[in-house]
Order: sequence, then structure tokens, then C-alpha cells
Amino acid sequence: MENELLNIKNNAMSLILDTNDSEQLEEIKLQFLGRSGVLTQAMKELPKIDPEKRKEVGMLANEVKITIENAISDKEQQLKHTNVRIRLEKIDVTNPGIRPPLGHLHLITQAISEITTIFERIGFTRVRYPEVEWDWYAFEALNFPKDHPARDDWETFFIDTEPNKKFGPMLLTPHTSSGQIREMQDNKPPIKILNLTKCYRRQSDVSHVPMFHQFEGLAIDTNLSIVNLKGVLDYFVKSYFGEKRNARIRPYHFEFTEPSFEVDVSCGVCSGRGCKLCKEGWLEMGGAGMVHPNVLKNTGIDPNKYNGFAFGWGVERVLMMKEGIEIDDLRLLYSNKLEFLEQF
Ligand code: PHE
Repeated sequence: MENELLNIKNNAMSLILDTNDSEQLEEIKLQFLGRSGVLTQAMKELPKIDPEKRKEVGMLANEVKITIENAISDKEQQLKHTNVRIRLEKIDVTNPGIRPPLGHLHLITQAISEITTIFERIGFTRVRYPEVEWDWYAFEALNFPKDHPARDDWETFFIDTEPNKKFGPMLLTPHTSSGQIREMQDNKPPIKILNLTKCYRRQSDVSHVPMFHQFEGLAIDTNLSIVNLKGVLDYFVKSYFGEKRNARIRPYHFEFTEPSFEVDVSCGVCSGRGCKLCKEGWLEMGGAGMVHPNVLKNTGIDPNKYNGFAFGWGVERVLMMKEGIEIDDLRLLYSNKLEFLEQF
């Protein structure tokens, strides 16, 4: 039996050593280690051996098995490497390569960095304030009356948690104006910031998404006026939309600014003449105004000494107005559809 085992080992080893072909190696494996392989069959004879010698022969049989297995797997590795090398040698490096697909920033991210740069050029510092906020920052300190519809469950996402004794219920901030309060509470004038962050409202249709972005400018100093506000608006409109576009302000109402304005931008498609995209040549962009004295007071700033202006617009909205497009469903921006995103 011992001799038989040693013969099997020698035969197997010389066959393994000689082969350079993985299919052949697979056959050798079957021939020795397969269910009806030579070694497997020999091992079946073990129980018939004299009990005194069985242990020793059993150990030898195992050793032979392990030696053959290791030799086979070493050879497998060796053949794999040679195959790769042969394949590499066949590559013609003078052929033109396959260009890997190149991605780009999402168009909202592009718009955010463009807007930030425009305001940084005239000294506005980009800041970000919490998206999960207290009612006091989002409404109360901004002079909203208790029964204002924006505080309604249907407009604002409230967080289902214990209200704070001082700051009221917890919510997802529905506009960037809450950042005005945080900024003025923590910093002394002069203040010149751009708060750009995500906002949340219970809305979803072709021109509204429940999560969107706003950018809000706030400037507080000793002698600011509507002229300064209009100057900044004009500057932004020309820088972002182009030299030919104009801004205008219309009287409006917000709780936290007085006077308040709605800002319009001349239509890029009809150049202000009037077309089906705009209202008589103008597109509505968003709100602005002079910071209400009550808001200054609520954050500990003396309204007799300081004043300022604020404006807040939607990133998605200005982006659509700039492209003059036809993103006919705003929800597409967040659909992750490459067919759409690759066009920009
Ligand atoms: N917060 C207002 C909105 O979401 C916009 C605004 C900002 C208006 C600043 C005036 C001043 O509609």
C-alpha cells in the first residue's frame, strides 16, 4: 500500500510539472483527486488494512493528497499569470484608447458655486445655518404673526418632538430667512452674508419640489438704503443672467421686511417685449426688502443705530430662468436621470 501511494504521488507530480495547459491540469486533477480518481480509490482501501498499520498508512495517504493538491494550485496560479502576460503582450499601445466617460457636477451644484462666486466678489461671505430649526428662528423672531399660513402643517414640515419652552416646535426650515436671525444674534454689524442652504416645504408639482435651495443675502450697517439693495440686485442680475437682462422691484409684503419688494428680471427670450414664457416681459424672481425694525430688535441690534436689506431667491428657479428653458418639470432635477443631466 505504501509503495502504491508513493507511485501515485510521483506520477501525479511529474504530470503536473510537465503540463502548461489549464485544461490538461484540470484533467490531471480529476484523474487523481476526482471521485473515481486514482488516489481517492486507493484511500477507499484503507479500512481493509491491518489496524496496527492503518494509522501510519492513513497519514501517508493524507500527505500525498495535500502534496498533489498544493502542486495543482501552484500550477494554476502560475498558468493564470502567464495567460495575463500573454494577453498584455498583445495590446498595441499605438492604437487610440477608449475614452472613459467623464462626469460633471450636478447642475444645481454648478449654479450654487456660480452664485456664491458672484456675491463673494462684492464682499458677501457664504454661510450655512441649520436646516432643522426651531419655530422661533424660522417665524417668531422674523415677526410672523401666530396664525400666519406659512406656519400651517400644510406649508411647513414640523418634527414630531417635544417643543422647546423658549423656541417652540422643531421644524425643517422653509426658507433661508431663519439664517438672518442666527447671524444677527451671533454677530455685530457690519454684517454682509450670503446664506445658501436647503429648504423644505410641503409641495410637489411641475414647478415645486419639497426640498429645494434658497440663497439669502443680508447686509446690516449704519446707513443702508433701497438704493444699495437695488444696486446689489442689478449687479447680480447682470452677472448671473447677462448684461442685457434688467432687474426691477415691485411693492410687496413680507412680515420681516419693510418696505418689501418682489424682484423681477426681464425675460431673456423676448427681451422684455412679452411672450408666453413671461408676464409682459418680466419673470418673477423672489423677495427682498429693508430689514424690519422688529427683527433687528429681536436679535439685540438697535434699530435706531443700524438698518439693512435682505433678499431671498430660489437656486432652482434662477437656474431655470437663466437657461430660458424648458425644464418643464422641476422634479427632473432630482430624478438622477442621466439622459437629462448629461444635457447640461
Ligand atoms: N423668505 C422669503 C421667501 O421664502 C424671501 C425673502 C427673503 C423676502 C428676504 C424678503 C427678504 O419667500
